[in-house]
Parts: sequence; C-alpha cells; structure tokens
Amino acid sequence: MPLLIIQDDITRLDCDAIVNAANNSLLGGGGVDGAIHRAAGPKLLEECRTLHGCDTGDAKITSGYNLKAKHVIHTVGPIWHGGENGEKELLASCYRRSLELAVKNDCSTVAFPMISAGVYGYPFDQALDVAVTTIGAFIDSYESDLTVFLVIFSRRDYRLDPDLISGLNRYIDNRTPKLKVNRSFMGAAARCASHKDEVIMEMADYSCTPIEEFVSSRIDESFTQMLLRKIDEKGMTDVECYKKANVDRKLFSKIRSNLSYHPKKRTALGFAVALKLDLNETKDLLMKAGYALSDSSKGDLVVQYFIENKIYDINKINEVLFAMDQEIIGEY
Ligand code: APR
Repeated sequence: MPLLIIQDDITRLDCDAIVNAANNSLLGGGGVDGAIHRAAGPKLLEECRTLHGCDTGDAKITSGYNLKAKHVIHTVGPIWHGGENGEKELLASCYRRSLELAVKNDCSTVAFPMISAGVYGYPFDQALDVAVTTIGAFIDSYESDLTVFLVIFSRRDYRLDPDLISGLNRYIDNRTPKLKVNRSFMGAAARCASHKDEVIMEMADYSCTPIEEFVSSRIDESFTQMLLRKIDEKGMTDVECYKKANVDRKLFSKIRSNLSYHPKKRTALGFAVALKLDLNETKDLLMKAGYALSDSSKGDLVVQYFIENKIYDINKINEVLFAMDQEIIGEY
C-alpha cells in the first residue's frame, strides 16, 4: 500500500528513512527534532554540523546511527504566518524534496511526521491536506515501489476539515435510524428461522439438477474478471488503477494472474474508488469477492458517503477513516 496513515512514535519505525521536522540550523530542537536526536545519539548532531544548515522547503540526509532507520532526512517546514506567505508551497516542497532524496538513496520505505503542524503552527487539517496530496502525487509519478508512512504522534492532534466531518456525521446519522427498522426486521427473521426445519425439508423434496450443472450454470464473473474488465472499460492502465487503489505492484500482479483471487474487503474497496465505480457497481465488485457494504459499519458508511458524493480520492477517504479509527482502504 503506497501511502499509510499510522499512529506511532517515528523514532521507533524500522524504515529505510525517517524524516525530521528540523529548523534551519539542523542543530536539534524540541518536538520530533528533539526525539530523533535523542534516539539517534550524539553522532547525528556531529554529522548535522557538517551540513551547514538547511533552507526552508529543502531537505538534507544523514545516517540514522542508533535509530532503526538507516537514514534521517532533515527538512525544514515553514512557520505559519496566516497562509499568505507561500507556506503551502514551502510545505509541499519539504515533502517533495525529502522523497526525492529518499529515492536517490534507494529508500523504499519512508516515514514522515506532520511537518510544521507542531511548534511551527501550521493548521493540522491544512498541513495534512498538503502532505497527502504531495505524497500521493509523487507516488503516482514514481515507477518503482515506494511505501510512505504518514505518522500521527497523537490522535489529539488529528483534526480534519470541520465541514467535511459535519457532512459525514449527518450522512452517517441519517443512515443509522434504518438499523432500528432492520432490528425489528431481524426480530421477524428470527421468528421465521424457528420454522427453518420445515423449509429445509420442503427443499429436500425438490428434484435438484446435478450440483456441477447447477454451479456451472450459475457461476458469475469473478472479482478479478470484473476488475480487469472495468480497467479496460475505464480506459485505465494497470499502473494507474493499482496506484489510485493504494495497492502495490506485487499484489496487483498476484491478482491479475489469478482469476479466482480472493482480496481483502479493504483491497476491493480501494479498487472500487480507483475505478470511480458508483454505489451499485461497488456493491457488485464487493459481492464478487464475497463481501457486502453494511450500514452498521462506520467505515463502510464513510466509503459510501464519498462514493455517493463522487469524491474518489482514496487518500482523502483514508484521512477520514483514520480519524474515525476505522480500517483504511487499499492493501498493506
Ligand atoms: N513521532 C512522530 N511525530 C511526532 C513525534 C514523534 N516522536 N513528536 C512530535 N511529533 C509530531 C507533532 O505532534 C507534530 O504533529 O510532529 C509534528 C511536528 O511537530 P514539531 O516537532 O513541533 O515540528 P514543527 O511544527 O515542524 O516545528 C519545527 O520545532 O522541534 C522544533 O527544532 C524544531 O524548530 C523546529 C520546530
């Protein structure tokens, strides 16, 4: 899965590179900068001294020393002054330059903190949007395998666009009352089930066709067949599709080579979003993998909300799923 949002302490991660939200001196500080220097040990500061600082929006690389990560990429985010001083472009440049350095140093796993979203005061939801958009664009344009972790240190920090959240909550609340109806329906179904023995006995009397004939006459298009058909119908390339589905190349080639492949639900949902399927097509694709969308699952309702509103941005969807403590979609 090319981009994952996770909650962790970045100094614990065993990635090829972790990114440090440093200051222009590169001589350490508080926040994640202080945590990385403490965990890496004094040799990190010694090497940083040889770099002679770093411009805002740029990035420089050192070894990781006592960290599990092989490298530390130091980047300097903009201080927030209201958003009219090029902050967005500078912040995007931090992510782009860090990723360029990562791939130049053969890193295939990179972890970012939320640059500038702490001491530098960048509003979290806007910083998150810049991070996800810039990382997503880089991954889309980059041929090789690259997995990026966006590390959220504390869920308290995690704030999304209030309008988006209120729209979502209205959508979920509107759908939830139906559960009460379903509950009474469930009650009726349970009473029916007490007569299920009679139903099964009746079925046994029918003369049924040989099972092979029954199965071969009913077998439907498989998940893989529908996926490949939809990629063709949408005029997409395989690469475009699996990248937009937040699925890595290796998994996609496994799916492509196995017509009866059984994906995880989150993978099937990732492809539904990548293919911009409407709700019925999404339900159809899920059903071919043996799944259904459920109004009693908050995660499913979030995905339904975005599909019904035709917002097919998997990273935006995962930002919300992460905020609601739901499983993010794609494959990892
Ligand atoms: N792991 C992951 N994320 C962390 C960690 C950690 N161990 N510690 C802090 N964070 C998060 C914060 O919660 C915040 O969301 O990193 C994000 C960036 O916060 P800061 O570290 O304050 O960085 P920034 O806002 O870019 O300010 C940089 O602070 O520490 C100084 O020397 C640094 O002057 C520079 C300034």
